[in-house]
Amino acid sequence: MLRGNKELWLAFLTMLLITGMYGFVVVFTRQIPPASDVFGHGMGIVGFVLMLMTEVLYSLRKRSRSVRWGRMSAWLQFHIFTGLVGPYMVLLHSSWKFHGLAGATTLLTVIIVVSGFIGRYIFTRIPRTMDGLEIEGTLSQEALKQARRLLALWHTIHIPIGMALFVSAFVHIGAALYYATFLK
Ligand code: HEM
Ligand code: HEM
Repeated sequence: MLRGNKELWLAFLTMLLITGMYGFVVVFTRQIPPASDVFGHGMGIVGFVLMLMTEVLYSLRKRSRSVRWGRMSAWLQFHIFTGLVGPYMVLLHSSWKFHGLAGATTLLTVIIVVSGFIGRYIFTRIPRTMDGLEIEGTLSQEALKQARRLLALWHTIHIPIGMALFVSAFVHIGAALYYATFLK
């Protein structure tokens, strides 16, 4: 079960801290950190690693039959934490320019985060144990069936968006490193 919203608060506080660092760099250098400078680049790389962890770790834990490290609820909380902090860092990496493929990648990132919130809302409608197993009979059966169907439908939309996002991110990273970093 996903209880309370501790992970949302932790993510919010971390984002506040990162905003402070970003503000400090803006004041100190008197410019918006460019995406290809040390700070902007670093934000992009760390943010992207967090996004990759978001994409991979929870799914691995959900499907692993042999290794059962940690509770599913904790992994989902971690998924949400990294799924918010990572995209936020990537947004600060963008230097507020959204041309071409990099702009499209940012848009997909925003869409997956919004979609994540919708999924979180539906997910919490279904009563579960701490290890993610659904509990029968606590809710009216009809409402429970509806929430399950909605979550399944949400998965069929959310997962392809995630894949499209990572394909476009890898192309952006390859092109940006080639043209803006190594050719300089
Ligand atoms: C999902 C992850 C990412 C998103 C959404 C993203 C988005 C963006 C955006 C919006 C820009 C500005 C483009 C413009 O000038 O209009 C940009 C620039 C750039 N990005 Fe990313 N980025 C991501 C990850 C990365 C990573 C991991 C790296 C490096 C390993 C990277 C390297 C760069 C570089 C070098 C530039 C500057 C390009 C230039 O100056 O022409 N990006 N990115
Ligand atoms: C970089 C951003 C994100 C990516 C790439 C991402 C990706 C994914 C993927 C691939 C799944 C399917 C897991 C599976 O069933 O194997 C998933 C599930 C889920 N995500 Fe995200 N997500 C992101 C951000 C978020 C955010 C910000 C939230 C909440 C605010 C969220 C909430 C959820 C929920 C509730 C599930 C369903 C868990 C389940 O049915 O077991 N995600 N996400």
